[in-house]
Amino acid sequence: MTSVNYDQFFSRSGLAMRESAIRRMGTVLADARDMVSFAPGYPTESTFPWDAFRAIADDLLRSRQGTVLQYGATRGYRPLLESLTTLMATRGITTSPDRLTVTNGSQQGLDLVARVLLNPDDVVLVELPSYTGAISAFRSVGAELVGVAQDADGLNMEALDATLARLRGEGRTVKCLYVVPNFQNPTGLLVGLEKRRLLLDWATRHDLLIVEDDPYRDLYFEDVTRESETRAIAADDVDGRVIYLSSFSKTLAPGLRVAWLHAAPALMAKFEIAKQASDLCNGGLGQQMVHQAIERGVLAAQLPQLRAHYQAQRDCMVDALHGAFGTALTWLQPRGGFFLWANLSGPMDGDALLPIAQARGVIYVAGSAFFVSGDERRFIRLSFSAPTPERIREGVARLALAVTDATGAAASTTPVASR
Ligand SMILES: Cc1ncc(COP(=O)(O)O)c(C=O)c1O
Repeated sequence: MTSVNYDQFFSRSGLAMRESAIRRMGTVLADARDMVSFAPGYPTESTFPWDAFRAIADDLLRSRQGTVLQYGATRGYRPLLESLTTLMATRGITTSPDRLTVTNGSQQGLDLVARVLLNPDDVVLVELPSYTGAISAFRSVGAELVGVAQDADGLNMEALDATLARLRGEGRTVKCLYVVPNFQNPTGLLVGLEKRRLLLDWATRHDLLIVEDDPYRDLYFEDVTRESETRAIAADDVDGRVIYLSSFSKTLAPGLRVAWLHAAPALMAKFEIAKQASDLCNGGLGQQMVHQAIERGVLAAQLPQLRAHYQAQRDCMVDALHGAFGTALTWLQPRGGFFLWANLSGPMDGDALLPIAQARGVIYVAGSAFFVSGDERRFIRLSFSAPTPERIREGVARLALAVTDATGAAASTTPVASR
């Protein structure tokens, strides 16, 4: 049998595709049972509403209604779209079924945005650091991502202005700004309310679109005293300038792959066609399970429990880090979401530390994976969402040992880390 050189068959974008750092960490986890993983942003499985879903699935399957297992509308199961309209109103966002589509996870929403809006070499502005899934989706169509530095309250407006002016001066086409204002993946940052308003004004002034990705919005902790601190940029959008994505992955279950996308009708018409080419429609069973979970009050009952649960998870990780590292590690205190963004002090490097940590039985995602530009290696993303408190403590203890190994090696040889 002659061997086939597949490289000749790949498209340009196929050739350029690289496995994400997070997926790679998933493989490590599968390979090693005792590994403590702070890598993927998985919800805690015990929080899934197992019993409620069992009852709902039983009712749906007993009903023998075609819609449960039949092909459905590309935009989504109509009663779910109507429930989403109500749910969006609780977030201050006015929408209607003609401005919504259900998607297979928000990841599909990002892919649709990329395919409908971006030509090769178009520019998307992103926060530095930014969510790797969005980076992959936008890069897969050949777009260039340009990062903009963030302050404590979100993007630095001067840097944003300067970046846009430079790119336009170079004749580049800048299409949109991608942001995760609530408990950003990877930093956990909550963007300030005033900054959100400034971003919308800025996009209006410069005639750009904003892609607002909001999967963590409902998972705020007690130190967010007013829910209004999570107010979506889309809530103040009167021009249809904001494309808004959210998901049930973190609040119900990611395996159902039910999320949604809200956009102006003219954009939505194209997203619908792109989705049709991609998957024809979402699965009916998953959509109807989510719809019933909303209608029966399962989702509403989940949310306070999830907030308390993830806050306790965060507290456990923060306490363990304080105990193990003292002041040797600093981090941004997450006020919601799944992630703690830690800054390794001294000569330490998140990429170089990773194999050492792995040998000690703990993994995380090196911060460099979230930077689209520059060589920033001081950070690590620790996800506190999935491991039990006991495993969080164990993982942090292992991480501390890894840091000792690395600094010991650094002291006895050349620095472990290049900065
Ligand atoms: C910021 C952000 N956007 C989108 C997603 C994708 O979520 P989904 O499961 O809805 O595809 C994630 C998942 O971690 C995320 O963190």
